[in-house]
Amino acid sequence: MDVQWVRVEPPKLGPRNSAVGLFFSMLLGVWYAQALEMSVGKVPFLEAVNGSTVMLPCSYSSCIGIENLYFNWQFNDNGTMHKVCESVIPSQGVEPHVSIYRERVEFVGKNRDSNISILLWNITFEDGGQYTCFGLNPKEKGKNHSAIFNLIVVDELRMVDNTLTIIIASAVGGAIALLMGFMLLKNFTLFVLSKLEEKNKECLVTSSGIDNTENGLSGSKADSKATPKKK
Ligand SMILES: *[C@@H]1O[C@H](CO)[C@@H](O)[C@H](O)[C@H]1NC(C)=O
Ligand SMILES: *[C@@H]1O[C@H](CO)[C@@H](O)[C@H](O)[C@H]1NC(C)=O
Ligand SMILES: *[C@@H]1O[C@H](CO)[C@@H](O)[C@H](O)[C@H]1NC(C)=O
Ligand SMILES: *[C@@H]1O[C@H](CO)[C@@H](O)[C@H](O)[C@H]1NC(C)=O
Ligand SMILES: *[C@@H]1O[C@H](CO)[C@@H](O)[C@H](O)[C@H]1NC(C)=O
Repeated sequence: MDVQWVRVEPPKLGPRNSAVGLFFSMLLGVWYAQALEMSVGKVPFLEAVNGSTVMLPCSYSSCIGIENLYFNWQFNDNGTMHKVCESVIPSQGVEPHVSIYRERVEFVGKNRDSNISILLWNITFEDGGQYTCFGLNPKEKGKNHSAIFNLIVVDELRMVDNTLTIIIASAVGGAIALLMGFMLLKNFTLFVLSKLEEKNKECLVTSSGIDNTENGLSGSKADSKATPKKK
């Protein structure tokens, strides 16, 4: 029952709904303006790396003022609500004594400017989920108000990205290196080939030169070369 109540109110604070809210507040005038409001801020979620310390923000406001305002934080663990902490604020600006039921939780809001934010130390993956900031102002005859804040615990997202970039970079680098290597190899091969060709040419030149000289000087050798071929 609590859960359903909890789900109804806060996520509907989009621009369109606030317009609808405005319309209703004009219709219902006094009642709406007097109601207690719980707020978790404009961004009702947070993505944080495990092991870090995060603040779950919440503040209240009421036009008719508060008197013995009861508030608590609840954690939605798979549908069952677990109380994180609770307290009663006698009046505006008084720092209440807060009972804490969950480890690594600290009440940092201290009711300064209606601030009832809590701090979650060294978060684990189990800490991820829905947190409800609940308020009940006896002046309103048992009307409940709440706002939901979502905590998303991630595992070193940036690191994964980095390794991915490194992988991509090394892959690209590797491809470039391979290309350069190939080009170098090609150039080297061409160079060797050209050298070989040069050598061949040299050989050809020299041999032809020799041939020429030999041809010119000693025809007998050409004859002696020719004779074994005929055998
Ligand atoms: C976060 O969780 C990962 C995976 O379980 C773990 O290796 C890492 O040490 C944790 N980081 C911190 C700061 O606890
Ligand atoms: C939470 O709910 C999921 C699926 O609905 C289930 O697999 C998981 O076992 C539940 N965890 C606990 C702690 O109940
Ligand atoms: C959070 O972790 C740090 C370092 O591991 C430790 O010194 C500190 O006591 C922890 N705080 C809480 C509230 O558990
Ligand atoms: C509530 O108090 C905490 C801790 O002092 C502070 O970091 C945060 O900004 C406050 N929030 C608002 C809305 O004033
Ligand atoms: C308001 O909250 C209290 C305590 O959680 C609960 O007992 C009561 O039924 C709720 N009232 C309404 C109208 O939802």
